[in-house]
Amino acid sequence: MAQQEDVFKKLVSHCKEYGFVFPSSEIYDGLAAVYDYGQLGVELKNNIKKYWWDSMTLMHENIVGIDSAIFMHPTIWKASGHVDAFNDPLIDNRDSKKRYRADVLIEEQLAKYEEKMNKEVEKAAKRFGEAFDEAQFRATNGRVLEYQAKWDALHQRFSDAMNAMDLEALKQIILDENIVCPISGTRNWTDVRQFNLMFSTEMGSTADGAMKIYLRPETAQGIFVNYLNVQKTGRMKLPFGIAQIGKAFRNEIVARQFIFRMREFEQMEMQFFVKPGTELEWFEKWKETRLKWHKALGLGDEKYRYHDHEKLAHYANAATDIEFQMPFGFKEVEGIHSRTNFDLSNHEKYSGKSIKYFDPESNESYVPYVIETSIGVDRTFLSILAGCFEEEKLENGETRVVLHLPACLAPVKLAVLPLVKKDGLPEKAREIMDDLKFNFKCQYDEKDSIGKRYRRQDAIGTPFCVTIDHETLNDNCVTLRNRDTMQQERIAIADLKDYISKAVSMTELLKKQR
Ligand code: GAP
Repeated sequence: MAQQEDVFKKLVSHCKEYGFVFPSSEIYDGLAAVYDYGQLGVELKNNIKKYWWDSMTLMHENIVGIDSAIFMHPTIWKASGHVDAFNDPLIDNRDSKKRYRADVLIEEQLAKYEEKMNKEVEKAAKRFGEAFDEAQFRATNGRVLEYQAKWDALHQRFSDAMNAMDLEALKQIILDENIVCPISGTRNWTDVRQFNLMFSTEMGSTADGAMKIYLRPETAQGIFVNYLNVQKTGRMKLPFGIAQIGKAFRNEIVARQFIFRMREFEQMEMQFFVKPGTELEWFEKWKETRLKWHKALGLGDEKYRYHDHEKLAHYANAATDIEFQMPFGFKEVEGIHSRTNFDLSNHEKYSGKSIKYFDPESNESYVPYVIETSIGVDRTFLSILAGCFEEEKLENGETRVVLHLPACLAPVKLAVLPLVKKDGLPEKAREIMDDLKFNFKCQYDEKDSIGKRYRRQDAIGTPFCVTIDHETLNDNCVTLRNRDTMQQERIAIADLKDYISKAVSMTELLKKQR
């Protein structure tokens, strides 16, 4: 684990050093849990968004996109339940004056029991070697059973308290489990209170009577309130989906782990409208489709898992997360929710307007049910970087830092490197750049030795480098170097465009999901 934390620290500084992610407002000492994407970060982020957008809107004839405003009528958040129910239970430690999410403190305690069980298993596996039967050991070992019983009891109490949102019960669990503040080390806790996560601001001048409005905590509501506009103008028939990418804002209490939990972040959400009664079937289909999308990235199938929700959000009748193995453990990257007709029927109720769908096949009108897929751009960005970052030991004893990004997501696709800064090589290199820059992102670099330039490109994940040498002037060929294999081959300049275009195309990634 310590090693993983070390990797995470290196990843965070790598992001800063190479222009992927900067702390926001850095010269003013930063703003907690807010980050800016740098020159390479924005390219990677845009490519991730394109991968998602094309997977939704190109690969599904019945999914279209929209881009709704961040500002929306405040009653929308009343109807959606966010004004009353979008809360986190928080608790303060009186000695350290630090604020925590009560549910997170308890989840961490559950994780401690799991860790203890895993340690026992690891020790035994070492002792018994090949003959070790993990399932049998877990079912019979006294210590493991003891921890499992503690985990089960705590888990039951925790689920009950969360489902009933019983704040006193949550506090009592924290006291009974002897959970201490990691800063002060004391159990001097306040009561647990509810804390609404929405940011608010005012619209209009005070003289006119300013209206309190919210910065949207999810992009989904912009889709719900436009669903009938899109259905009618796009002549859409159920089932159909609406996709959207945009910023969302949450006043997170526990904002940490870099871009994993931010106060301003970006979501890619798709609401899929279906006939009532078919929603659980569609829920299963979307669970599968979305996992395929993640796995196609090639970061390792074993790094993903589903986590079914026990405590359902106020709008859902089934929900699961797709979790990715981050350097700090398996964490949610995407949520898939069966949202019933909760949102649409509430918008009907609060707006007083009918938003029923007329089904031409059955000749009836009804409010559709909704399956939602909701993925964070920033968490996907982090999962991809974490999955691609490697400090690779080379045969010559040196280490290179390399980002094995899928070629179509890499911020720069091709580095164009004249071997030396003279003899007409830079001019030839510029000629190649000028020809290829219309097709993909190229970077020209003539500074330092060729080895150093390769390392710089490895560190930002550039899949290909071409070197222009003296021979190039005679034979119109260049040396093409592959980032992952480090193999070099001679290739005619005339063939470069086709070769690289094919290798960096997103089509193959999209086809993997069929
Ligand atoms: N519309 C449903 C919804 O918003 P959610 O599970 O609260 O569901 C969906 O959020 C996704 O948005 C998460 O899986 C995560 O990737 C991303 N997300 C949520 N809160 C975030 C935060 N504070 N920082 C970064 N990403 C966040």
